Amino acid sequence: MTAEPMHETTPPKAVQRWSASDYARNGRFVQEMAGPVFAMLAPRPGERILDLGCGDGTLTAKIKAAGADVLGVDLSEELLAVAKMKGLAVRKLDGHALDFVSEFDAVFSNAALHWMRAPDVVITGVARALKPRGRFVGELGGHGNVAAIATAMRAVGGTRAGDPALVAPWFFPTPAEYGRLLEQGGFSVREVMLVPRPTPLKTGMEGWLRTFGRFFFDQFQDPERDEVLKEVMELLRPSLCDASGAWTADHVRLRFFAERGA
Ligand code: BEZ
Repeated sequence: MTAEPMHETTPPKAVQRWSASDYARNGRFVQEMAGPVFAMLAPRPGERILDLGCGDGTLTAKIKAAGADVLGVDLSEELLAVAKMKGLAVRKLDGHALDFVSEFDAVFSNAALHWMRAPDVVITGVARALKPRGRFVGELGGHGNVAAIATAMRAVGGTRAGDPALVAPWFFPTPAEYGRLLEQGGFSVREVMLVPRPTPLKTGMEGWLRTFGRFFFDQFQDPERDEVLKEVMELLRPSLCDASGAWTADHVRLRFFAERGA
């Protein structure tokens, strides 16, 4: 992963386009497996909380249900529209351009920070948005996340003159790297850990690849696109598909709890 550019603030355009229906079908695990980081946030009634990268608002709604006054921000208009239909307060906003000042008791983020490739800029905006001693609690892909999947995409892409930069436009830091960034941004780090989290894929590897790898596969025209997808799946099958045909993604989470200085 480290060979990929980490500090561009603007990911490839396609990365920002989400189909709400694809995401709901193939990305359900994102919210279903967020229990531990949500427990770490422990939202309290009356708190003002920012959900950074709220997507379709599934977890924003849980924060609201806990009695907090929550605002969700995301870049995807399609996912924000779904969140709005749930009656949630949301705004279209890039995580690199947070414009809040000492407004929130907590900033929460699940499975979004790995798309933001200038983490120092994001962390500065989060620190500014928090009240003194406010908490920043989140989970993102950590070092080694989807390593097998990305390697298979690189290998097949390499035989087809694919652009390797499109394989992994993500930021998957080590705890040491993210802890240092948080401290440089004015946070005291209470916890930062890597959590291997093999993730059963209810819609199979094809669903995962079509949703989260779309920017890579979209560089190929049909019918080559489908051939590339099948080759990637065949490379992955011995490692990530069990004897019953069930697929698992090699997810590794980086989970953290940090507190802004006074
Ligand atoms: C993840 O949640 O680990 C993930 C999501 C999209 C692309 C890669 C990884």
